[in-house]
Amino acid sequence: MISPLRTPSMRHARLSAVGAYRPRRVVSNAEICTRIDSTEEWIESRSGIRSRRFAAPDETLPAMAEAAAGAALTEAGVAPERIGAVVLASMSNLVQTPPLAATVAHRVGAVAAGAFDLSGACAGFCHALAVAGDMVRAGSAEHVLVVAVERMTDIVDPADRSIAFLFADGAGAVMVGPSDRPGLGPVVRGAHGDMAAALRMTGSWADFRADPSGLPPVMRMDGRRIFRWAVDEVAPAAQRALDLAGVRPENLAAFVPHQANTRIIDLMVQRLELPDSVAVARDLVTAGNTSAASIPLALHGLRDAGAARSGEPALLVGFGAGLTYAAQVVLLP
Ligand code: ACO
Repeated sequence: MISPLRTPSMRHARLSAVGAYRPRRVVSNAEICTRIDSTEEWIESRSGIRSRRFAAPDETLPAMAEAAAGAALTEAGVAPERIGAVVLASMSNLVQTPPLAATVAHRVGAVAAGAFDLSGACAGFCHALAVAGDMVRAGSAEHVLVVAVERMTDIVDPADRSIAFLFADGAGAVMVGPSDRPGLGPVVRGAHGDMAAALRMTGSWADFRADPSGLPPVMRMDGRRIFRWAVDEVAPAAQRALDLAGVRPENLAAFVPHQANTRIIDLMVQRLELPDSVAVARDLVTAGNTSAASIPLALHGLRDAGAARSGEPALLVGFGAGLTYAAQVVLLP
Protein backbone atom coordinates (compact mmCIF):
# COMPACT_ATOMS: atom_id res chain seq x y z
CA MET A 1 0.00 0.00 0.00
CA ILE A 2 1.31 3.51 -0.79
CA SER A 3 1.92 5.54 2.37
CA PRO A 4 -0.07 8.79 2.66
CA LEU A 5 2.91 10.44 4.43
CA ARG A 6 5.34 12.71 2.65
CA THR A 7 8.98 12.61 3.79
CA PRO A 8 11.96 14.51 2.44
CA SER A 9 14.25 12.35 0.31
CA MET A 10 17.58 11.19 1.75
CA ARG A 11 20.65 13.27 0.88
CA HIS A 12 24.24 13.65 2.05
CA ALA A 13 25.54 15.79 4.91
CA ARG A 14 28.85 17.53 5.57
CA LEU A 15 30.61 19.86 7.98
CA SER A 16 30.38 23.32 6.46
CA ALA A 17 32.20 25.34 9.13
CA VAL A 18 33.95 25.22 12.50
CA GLY A 19 34.21 27.91 15.18
CA ALA A 20 36.00 28.12 18.51
CA TYR A 21 36.21 30.19 21.65
CA ARG A 22 39.22 29.96 23.95
CA PRO A 23 38.98 31.75 27.31
CA ARG A 24 41.37 34.69 27.78
CA ARG A 25 43.30 33.46 30.82
CA VAL A 26 46.22 31.10 30.26
CA VAL A 27 47.00 28.96 33.31
CA SER A 28 50.45 27.39 33.53
CA ASN A 29 51.43 24.12 35.19
CA ALA A 30 53.38 26.24 37.67
CA GLU A 31 50.15 27.93 38.76
CA ILE A 32 48.34 24.56 39.08
CA CYS A 33 51.19 23.36 41.31
CA THR A 34 50.45 26.14 43.79
CA ARG A 35 47.19 24.30 44.58
CA ILE A 36 48.14 20.62 44.40
CA ASP A 37 51.10 18.49 45.49
CA SER A 38 52.69 17.99 42.06
CA THR A 39 55.42 19.25 39.73
CA GLU A 40 55.36 20.91 36.33
CA GLU A 41 57.44 18.03 34.97
CA TRP A 42 55.05 15.37 36.32
CA ILE A 43 52.02 17.07 34.76
CA GLU A 44 53.67 17.49 31.37
CA SER A 45 55.20 14.02 31.22
CA ARG A 46 52.04 12.17 32.42
CA SER A 47 49.44 14.18 30.48
CA GLY A 48 51.23 16.24 27.80
CA ILE A 49 49.62 19.44 29.10
CA ARG A 50 51.79 22.58 29.42
CA SER A 51 49.04 25.15 29.91
CA ARG A 52 45.27 25.47 29.69
CA ARG A 53 42.59 28.20 29.64
CA PHE A 54 40.33 28.97 32.58
CA ALA A 55 37.17 31.02 32.00
CA ALA A 56 36.61 34.30 33.87
CA PRO A 57 33.20 34.98 35.47
CA ASP A 58 32.00 36.83 32.34
CA GLU A 59 33.03 33.90 30.12
CA THR A 60 29.86 32.03 30.93
CA LEU A 61 28.63 28.90 29.14
CA PRO A 62 26.13 30.90 27.02
CA ALA A 63 28.73 33.59 26.23
CA MET A 64 31.40 31.10 25.13
CA ALA A 65 28.86 29.00 23.22
CA GLU A 66 27.55 32.09 21.43
CA ALA A 67 31.07 33.16 20.43
CA ALA A 68 31.98 29.73 18.99
CA ALA A 69 28.59 29.33 17.31
CA GLY A 70 28.73 32.84 15.84
CA ALA A 71 32.18 32.13 14.35
CA ALA A 72 30.92 28.87 12.77
CA LEU A 73 27.84 30.62 11.38
CA THR A 74 29.90 33.41 9.85
CA GLU A 75 32.27 30.92 8.24
CA ALA A 76 29.39 28.84 6.85
CA GLY A 77 27.75 31.94 5.39
CA VAL A 78 24.36 30.56 6.38
CA ALA A 79 21.63 32.97 7.53
CA PRO A 80 20.74 32.06 11.14
CA GLU A 81 17.04 31.73 10.29
CA ARG A 82 17.89 28.77 8.03
CA ILE A 83 19.16 26.71 10.99
CA GLY A 84 16.69 23.92 11.66
CA ALA A 85 18.16 22.72 14.94
CA VAL A 86 20.73 23.63 17.58
CA VAL A 87 22.19 20.62 19.43
CA LEU A 88 24.37 21.43 22.41
CA ALA A 89 26.71 19.08 24.29
CA SER A 90 28.01 19.91 27.74
CA MET A 91 28.77 18.05 30.96
CA SER A 92 29.52 21.12 33.06
CA ASN A 93 26.19 22.91 32.52
CA LEU A 94 24.76 22.80 36.03
CA VAL A 95 21.37 24.14 34.92
CA GLN A 96 19.20 21.19 33.92
CA THR A 97 16.47 23.32 32.46
CA PRO A 98 15.87 25.39 30.34
CA PRO A 99 18.10 23.72 27.74
CA LEU A 100 21.16 25.86 27.05
CA ALA A 101 20.73 25.11 23.33
CA ALA A 102 17.58 27.27 23.30
CA THR A 103 19.46 30.23 24.81
CA VAL A 104 22.24 29.82 22.23
CA ALA A 105 19.68 29.57 19.39
CA HIS A 106 18.11 32.81 20.60
CA ARG A 107 21.47 34.57 20.94
CA VAL A 108 22.61 33.69 17.40
CA GLY A 109 19.23 34.52 15.85
CA ALA A 110 18.26 30.94 14.96
CA VAL A 111 14.60 31.87 15.19
CA ALA A 112 13.28 28.83 13.29
CA ALA A 113 15.42 26.24 15.10
CA GLY A 114 14.44 23.50 17.48
CA ALA A 115 16.99 23.27 20.26
CA PHE A 116 18.00 20.61 22.75
CA ASP A 117 20.92 19.60 24.96
CA LEU A 118 22.65 16.28 24.81
CA SER A 119 24.57 14.67 27.69
CA GLY A 120 27.47 12.57 26.47
CA ALA A 121 30.37 13.94 28.55
CA CYS A 122 33.64 13.93 26.58
CA ALA A 123 31.95 11.93 23.79
CA GLY A 124 29.12 14.49 23.60
CA PHE A 125 30.38 16.32 20.53
CA CYS A 126 30.71 13.17 18.39
CA HIS A 127 27.28 11.94 19.55
CA ALA A 128 25.76 15.36 18.72
CA LEU A 129 27.48 15.42 15.34
CA ALA A 130 26.03 12.01 14.48
CA VAL A 131 22.52 13.22 15.41
CA ALA A 132 22.99 16.39 13.33
CA GLY A 133 24.20 14.37 10.33
CA ASP A 134 21.17 12.08 10.57
CA MET A 135 18.85 15.10 10.69
CA VAL A 136 20.36 16.69 7.58
CA ARG A 137 20.48 13.37 5.69
CA ALA A 138 16.88 12.54 6.56
CA GLY A 139 15.76 16.06 5.67
CA SER A 140 14.30 17.03 9.05
CA ALA A 141 16.66 20.04 9.11
CA GLU A 142 18.60 21.78 6.37
CA HIS A 143 21.34 23.19 8.57
CA VAL A 144 22.18 22.09 12.12
CA LEU A 145 24.38 24.00 14.55
CA VAL A 146 26.31 21.69 16.89
CA VAL A 147 27.81 23.43 19.92
CA ALA A 148 30.03 21.98 22.64
CA VAL A 149 30.85 24.15 25.62
CA GLU A 150 32.46 23.51 28.99
CA ARG A 151 33.46 25.27 32.17
CA MET A 152 35.11 22.24 33.71
CA THR A 153 36.52 24.54 36.40
CA ASP A 154 32.95 24.70 37.80
CA ILE A 155 32.89 20.96 38.49
CA VAL A 156 36.53 20.14 39.25
CA ASP A 157 37.86 20.40 42.79
CA PRO A 158 40.97 22.60 42.32
CA ALA A 159 42.67 20.77 45.19
CA ASP A 160 42.14 17.27 43.71
CA ARG A 161 45.60 16.32 42.45
CA SER A 162 44.22 13.48 40.34
CA ILE A 163 42.32 15.83 37.97
CA ALA A 164 42.94 19.51 38.77
CA PHE A 165 45.76 19.68 36.19
CA LEU A 166 43.75 18.00 33.40
CA PHE A 167 40.50 19.84 32.88
CA ALA A 168 39.86 23.29 31.42
CA ASP A 169 37.30 25.55 29.74
CA GLY A 170 36.31 26.52 26.20
CA ALA A 171 33.77 26.12 23.39
CA GLY A 172 33.67 24.78 19.86
CA ALA A 173 30.93 24.65 17.24
CA VAL A 174 30.34 23.23 13.79
CA MET A 175 27.70 23.73 11.14
CA VAL A 176 26.32 20.63 9.45
CA GLY A 177 24.56 21.12 6.13
CA PRO A 178 23.46 19.32 2.97
CA SER A 179 25.98 18.09 0.45
CA ASP A 180 26.08 16.50 -3.00
CA ARG A 181 28.66 13.92 -1.78
CA PRO A 182 29.08 12.06 1.53
CA GLY A 183 30.84 14.28 4.07
CA LEU A 184 30.07 12.44 7.31
CA GLY A 185 30.93 8.76 7.62
CA PRO A 186 28.89 6.23 9.63
CA VAL A 187 29.13 6.65 13.39
CA VAL A 188 30.42 3.86 15.64
CA ARG A 189 28.96 4.16 19.13
CA GLY A 190 29.33 2.24 22.37
CA ALA A 191 28.56 2.51 26.07
CA HIS A 192 29.94 0.63 29.07
CA GLY A 193 27.56 1.54 31.89
CA ASP A 194 29.18 -1.12 34.06
CA MET A 195 32.13 1.31 34.32
CA ALA A 196 29.99 4.32 35.28
CA ALA A 197 31.85 4.77 38.56
CA ALA A 198 35.14 5.47 36.76
CA LEU A 199 34.01 9.07 36.18
CA ARG A 200 31.24 10.39 38.34
CA MET A 201 29.92 13.38 40.25
CA THR A 202 29.97 13.29 44.04
CA GLY A 203 26.85 13.94 46.14
CA SER A 204 24.02 16.19 45.01
CA TRP A 205 23.06 19.84 45.25
CA ALA A 206 20.26 18.85 47.65
CA ASP A 207 22.82 17.25 50.00
CA PHE A 208 25.11 20.27 49.66
CA ARG A 209 22.30 22.70 50.46
CA ALA A 210 21.40 20.67 53.52
CA ASP A 211 25.04 20.70 54.70
CA PRO A 212 27.09 23.43 52.95
CA SER A 213 30.18 22.81 55.11
CA GLY A 214 31.77 20.54 52.44
CA LEU A 215 32.39 20.78 48.70
CA PRO A 216 29.55 21.21 46.18
CA PRO A 217 29.15 18.22 43.79
CA VAL A 218 32.44 17.73 41.94
CA MET A 219 33.84 15.23 39.50
CA ARG A 220 35.91 12.23 40.57
CA MET A 221 37.85 10.11 38.10
CA ASP A 222 39.67 6.79 38.10
CA GLY A 223 42.20 7.94 35.50
CA ARG A 224 44.13 4.66 35.26
CA ARG A 225 40.94 2.69 34.50
CA ILE A 226 39.78 5.13 31.81
CA PHE A 227 43.26 5.18 30.30
CA ARG A 228 43.24 1.38 29.79
CA TRP A 229 39.66 1.39 28.49
CA ALA A 230 40.41 4.17 26.00
CA VAL A 231 43.33 2.26 24.53
CA ASP A 232 41.79 -1.24 24.64
CA GLU A 233 38.15 -0.48 23.69
CA VAL A 234 38.02 2.92 22.02
CA ALA A 235 40.94 2.53 19.62
CA PRO A 236 39.28 -0.54 17.99
CA ALA A 237 36.04 1.47 17.70
CA ALA A 238 37.98 4.19 15.86
CA GLN A 239 39.31 1.47 13.56
CA ARG A 240 35.71 0.32 12.87
CA ALA A 241 34.76 3.92 11.96
CA LEU A 242 37.60 3.97 9.42
CA ASP A 243 36.53 0.58 8.02
CA LEU A 244 32.86 1.58 7.75
CA ALA A 245 33.79 4.79 5.95
CA GLY A 246 36.04 2.82 3.61
CA VAL A 247 39.03 5.02 4.45
CA ARG A 248 42.50 3.51 4.86
CA PRO A 249 44.95 5.04 7.38
CA GLU A 250 47.22 6.27 4.56
CA ASN A 251 44.31 8.19 3.00
CA LEU A 252 43.50 9.98 6.24
CA ALA A 253 44.62 13.62 6.51
CA ALA A 254 44.00 14.11 10.22
CA PHE A 255 43.29 12.27 13.47
CA VAL A 256 41.33 14.32 16.00
CA PRO A 257 40.69 12.26 19.13
CA HIS A 258 39.25 13.56 22.38
CA GLN A 259 42.03 15.59 23.97
CA ALA A 260 42.44 13.63 27.21
CA ASN A 261 46.12 12.72 27.39
CA THR A 262 48.96 12.74 24.81
CA ARG A 263 49.97 9.25 25.98
CA ILE A 264 46.48 7.94 25.09
CA ILE A 265 46.68 9.75 21.73
CA ASP A 266 50.12 8.27 20.98
CA LEU A 267 48.94 4.73 21.85
CA MET A 268 45.87 5.16 19.64
CA VAL A 269 48.08 6.33 16.76
CA GLN A 270 50.17 3.16 17.24
CA ARG A 271 47.14 0.83 17.43
CA LEU A 272 45.59 2.40 14.33
CA GLU A 273 48.96 2.23 12.55
CA LEU A 274 48.59 5.80 11.34
CA PRO A 275 51.45 6.89 9.05
CA ASP A 276 53.44 10.09 9.70
CA SER A 277 51.49 11.80 6.92
CA VAL A 278 48.42 11.98 9.21
CA ALA A 279 48.22 15.24 11.18
CA VAL A 280 47.49 14.30 14.79
CA ALA A 281 45.68 16.88 16.93
CA ARG A 282 47.48 17.62 20.20
CA ASP A 283 45.51 20.72 21.13
CA LEU A 284 45.51 19.70 24.80
CA VAL A 285 49.15 20.76 25.14
CA THR A 286 47.88 24.34 25.44
CA ALA A 287 44.15 23.77 26.00
CA GLY A 288 43.93 20.93 28.56
CA ASN A 289 40.99 18.55 28.50
CA THR A 290 37.89 20.60 27.67
CA SER A 291 35.61 17.54 27.62
CA ALA A 292 32.89 17.86 24.94
CA ALA A 293 34.53 21.00 23.50
CA SER A 294 37.91 19.35 22.95
CA ILE A 295 37.30 17.88 19.48
CA PRO A 296 35.85 20.97 17.77
CA LEU A 297 38.55 23.11 19.44
CA ALA A 298 41.25 20.72 18.20
CA LEU A 299 39.67 20.56 14.75
CA HIS A 300 39.67 24.35 14.58
CA GLY A 301 43.29 24.54 15.80
CA LEU A 302 44.50 21.96 13.29
CA ARG A 303 42.80 23.63 10.39
CA ASP A 304 43.94 27.12 11.37
CA ALA A 305 47.53 25.87 11.64
CA GLY A 306 47.23 24.61 8.05
CA ALA A 307 47.95 21.02 9.16
CA ALA A 308 44.97 19.70 7.17
CA ARG A 309 42.91 21.19 4.39
CA SER A 310 39.21 21.61 3.76
CA GLY A 311 37.64 18.55 2.07
CA GLU A 312 40.25 16.11 3.43
CA PRO A 313 39.19 13.14 5.62
CA ALA A 314 39.67 13.28 9.40
CA LEU A 315 38.95 10.59 11.99
CA LEU A 316 37.17 11.90 15.10
CA VAL A 317 36.76 9.86 18.28
CA GLY A 318 35.15 11.08 21.49
CA PHE A 319 35.21 9.06 24.73
CA GLY A 320 34.58 9.63 28.40
CA ALA A 321 32.13 9.43 31.29
CA GLY A 322 29.46 6.79 30.95
CA LEU A 323 31.69 5.28 29.91
CA THR A 324 30.69 6.02 26.35
CA TYR A 325 32.30 6.68 22.97
CA ALA A 326 31.44 7.75 19.43
CA ALA A 327 33.69 7.85 16.37
CA GLN A 328 33.24 8.91 12.75
CA VAL A 329 35.25 9.95 9.70
CA VAL A 330 34.39 13.42 8.37
CA LEU A 331 35.56 15.57 5.51
CA LEU A 332 37.10 18.68 7.04
CA PRO A 333 35.12 21.92 6.66
N1 ACO B 1 51.23 14.98 40.69
C1 ACO B 1 52.16 14.09 41.05
N2 ACO B 1 51.89 12.79 41.26
C2 ACO B 1 50.62 12.38 41.09
C3 ACO B 1 49.59 13.28 40.70
C4 ACO B 1 49.93 14.61 40.51
N3 ACO B 1 49.04 15.55 40.14
N4 ACO B 1 48.42 12.59 40.60
C5 ACO B 1 48.72 11.31 40.91
N5 ACO B 1 50.05 11.19 41.21
C6 ACO B 1 50.78 9.99 41.58
C7 ACO B 1 49.87 8.89 42.07
O1 ACO B 1 49.61 9.04 43.44
C8 ACO B 1 50.66 7.66 41.75
O2 ACO B 1 51.64 7.45 42.76
P1 ACO B 1 51.99 5.94 43.24
O3 ACO B 1 52.58 5.28 42.01
O4 ACO B 1 52.96 6.18 44.34
O5 ACO B 1 50.69 5.35 43.65
C9 ACO B 1 51.40 8.02 40.47
O6 ACO B 1 51.41 9.45 40.41
C10 ACO B 1 50.74 7.47 39.23
O7 ACO B 1 49.34 7.74 39.27
P2 ACO B 1 48.38 7.29 38.13
O8 ACO B 1 46.99 7.72 38.46
O9 ACO B 1 48.61 5.84 37.82
O10 ACO B 1 48.94 8.18 36.94
P3 ACO B 1 48.71 7.98 35.42
O11 ACO B 1 49.97 7.71 34.77
O12 ACO B 1 47.56 7.06 35.14
O13 ACO B 1 48.26 9.46 34.98
C11 ACO B 1 46.23 10.56 34.41
C12 ACO B 1 47.11 10.04 35.54
C13 ACO B 1 47.02 11.65 33.72
C14 ACO B 1 44.96 11.14 35.03
C15 ACO B 1 45.88 9.43 33.42
O14 ACO B 1 45.46 8.29 34.13
C16 ACO B 1 44.82 9.80 32.42
O15 ACO B 1 44.99 10.71 31.63
N6 ACO B 1 43.74 9.03 32.38
C17 ACO B 1 42.70 9.18 31.38
C18 ACO B 1 41.77 10.27 31.72
C19 ACO B 1 40.75 10.38 30.60
O16 ACO B 1 40.96 9.94 29.50
N7 ACO B 1 39.62 10.95 30.83
C20 ACO B 1 38.70 11.00 29.68
C21 ACO B 1 37.43 11.15 30.07
S1 ACO B 1 37.21 12.76 30.61
C22 ACO B 1 35.50 12.98 30.71
O17 ACO B 1 34.67 12.20 30.30
C23 ACO B 1 35.12 14.19 31.43
